[in-house]
Amino acid sequence: MRYIGSKARILGFISETINQTFGPLKGAVAADLFTGTCCVAEMFKAQGAQVITNDYLRFSYALQVAKVKLNAEPASRILYEEALAELNALEGIEGFFFEEYTLEGTAGAPYARNYFSSGNAKKIDAVCTCLARWRSRGDISSDMFHLLSASLVDTVTKVSNISGTYGAFLKIDDHRKFKPLELRPFTFADNGFENLAYCQDIMDLMEDVTGDLLYLDPPYNSRQYPPYYHILETAVLYDAPPIYGLTGRRPYKDQLSPFCIKEKALPALLDVVRRARFPHIYISYSMDGIMDYQELCKGLSSMGKVQSYFKPHRRFKSNNGGEGGGPVKEIIIYVQKR
Ligand SMILES: C[S@@+](CC[C@H](N)C(=O)[O-])C[C@H]1O[C@@H](n2cnc3c(N)ncnc32)[C@H](O)[C@@H]1O
Repeated sequence: MRYIGSKARILGFISETINQTFGPLKGAVAADLFTGTCCVAEMFKAQGAQVITNDYLRFSYALQVAKVKLNAEPASRILYEEALAELNALEGIEGFFFEEYTLEGTAGAPYARNYFSSGNAKKIDAVCTCLARWRSRGDISSDMFHLLSASLVDTVTKVSNISGTYGAFLKIDDHRKFKPLELRPFTFADNGFENLAYCQDIMDLMEDVTGDLLYLDPPYNSRQYPPYYHILETAVLYDAPPIYGLTGRRPYKDQLSPFCIKEKALPALLDVVRRARFPHIYISYSMDGIMDYQELCKGLSSMGKVQSYFKPHRRFKSNNGGEGGGPVKEIIIYVQKR
């Protein structure tokens, strides 16, 4: 999945740095508390760690359940395969996604929005409605709900008429818009441990989690995540939010992250590290991030031994209003807490 700040392309660098400094992850408790798409947490799991994940976005929580928390299909009145077959066979209905995010549904409204084909939007509405009904009746567990929602999120990203984020839709149709919406099963990786998944502001979580190694990948610039992924949030929450503007965003004032605000990011990150109940902490950061690198290292040095590892990396590129494609130096700052 295309995601701002995704570490999918530098997993080797992260893994090498951890293996050189911490050693093998097998049997260790490893946390990834800004997990986003979960690619780093999945790597921890594949290397035999017990894994703790967190992100304050709901769609990320669904991915955490599907990719990391679950070791096998969760117990549920409706079985996974049955549920997927039933959802894929649903007839589309005209609901929130059709009415708000398609050209047909928004015709005559103040804003015409072109995120989805009418057919796919109606299917999303049908799937969301069915999931909500199953959940409220107790036909599926919370884990099954999030597992199925993760399949929905995955397919929604593949049929969206966007250039990379939901910060804007394309005016000219991309071929993705015409792909059929199909929920596909996740395959489960079993590490033999109970893995934990959270959907919280990290500032509220630090006292509740502990382990051997903590990986932190905070946002690196001032772009708040919720408006760029609002449609994925709505696909999981299906709560008919009071959306606004051309792009039909969810309100996100109560989700403003201090890590995206220049004067708040550094104190917030130092606070997280100070409160962390983990002896080994790895922080991903890019050289042109909003925090000053020297100040960050200085602040971290007061809490332990600090070493930095560097790698050149091409940055996230979206065709529409995104950043340029120049190289960014990726850094991992390793803190051994005293
Ligand atoms: C750089 S991205 C992480 C990318 C991830 N490592 C990946 O490869 O997909 C930063 C993440 O931090 C999350 N985030 C931002 N502020 C947060 C907060 N206060 N609490 C929890 N998560 C937060 C965002 O939702 C986003 O997914």
